[in-house]
Amino acid sequence: MALPIRRIAVNTGGGDAPGLNAVIRAVVLSALRRGWEVLGIRKGYEGLIDTSQILPLTRDSVRGITHVGGTILGTTNKGDPYRRVVEHPDGTREVIDVSARVIENFHRLELDALIAIGGDGSLQIAYHFFEQGLPVVGVPKTIDNDLSHTVVTFGFDTAVTVATEALDRLHSTAEAHERVMVVEVMGRYAGWIALNSGLAASCDVILIPEIPFDYEAVCAKILEREAAGRHFSIVVAAEGARPIGGTYVMRTPAQPGGQARLGGIGEQVAEEIARRTGKECRVVVLGHLQRGGAPTTFDRLIALRFGAAAVRVAAEGQFGVMVALDPPDVRTVPLAAAISRMKSVPLDCDSILTARDLGICLGDRWPA
Ligand code: F6P
Repeated sequence: MALPIRRIAVNTGGGDAPGLNAVIRAVVLSALRRGWEVLGIRKGYEGLIDTSQILPLTRDSVRGITHVGGTILGTTNKGDPYRRVVEHPDGTREVIDVSARVIENFHRLELDALIAIGGDGSLQIAYHFFEQGLPVVGVPKTIDNDLSHTVVTFGFDTAVTVATEALDRLHSTAEAHERVMVVEVMGRYAGWIALNSGLAASCDVILIPEIPFDYEAVCAKILEREAAGRHFSIVVAAEGARPIGGTYVMRTPAQPGGQARLGGIGEQVAEEIARRTGKECRVVVLGHLQRGGAPTTFDRLIALRFGAAAVRVAAEGQFGVMVALDPPDVRTVPLAAAISRMKSVPLDCDSILTARDLGICLGDRWPA
């Protein structure tokens, strides 16, 4: 028999993703309907380290936020309580573990459950807290779609939609100037955003981390188009794409308590294509545009469904799980399984086969 719940908390961790507010709204309304109280934890776990930042969430707090981007709770991708970075006055930095304070405050606030909305990093933290006895339910968030055991994460559809619209717009200017446009999209070490937007926007070349590329193949495709009278090309490169034998291109390497920032491959690809083909190239880095603004209808719906499901799961006394989309249902999977491995693009998946059948170069060989 599940113990009765009186008060729960909700937090959002890691990079923001469109749909976070829709999850928060669904959690709050579903919980209030059961007579529970809901506390919002500010900036990931920060609000459980310094509890002056706790925010009681009412029906009013979540009114009209389903379509609003960002998160009313704030977030951080540097907020791991197990590896908190402290800066001393002399400029030195120290990594300390403040997880005990989080657990102590959780109990002091008389919380019965935590709904943790996050990607791989935040859900790993949530899992550690579950192992230490906190009743946690995870909700899968990330524009990168790289979480295992869910068909999709919320935020991904919006990112793909933004990238597709940008790629669509670049066709006319590329054609007008007879240029090669190289568009760098996000996704970290997974190529989902590049693959889906590249297919939807009829790109000529799609470069993803799962398929290290060969500049010869990429340029052969561009020159083949040139010879056929198509004097422009659109290349979409995932930020984690890399040439065969090459390494990831980083803006900043991993810091204690934080992840590496990828970025810059688009510039390198454009320079190399220009050098090898003589074509004029331009680079567009879509960056955080992919995370900003209103979620698509699809993302709103799964975000709302995930939030309501997380509360139902907590009411049943099921913890240490993540809600997951397994169409047509939302089910639960063990958090341990969800964080056990990254969900990469399978090389034999239908979208990869479709791209090859449509004559899109995936960078490994040309002809496809
Ligand atoms: O994980 C989401 C994501 O947007 C990645 O696609 C990207 O590499 C990273 O976050 C960017 O992080 P930041 O917001 O710290 O620049």
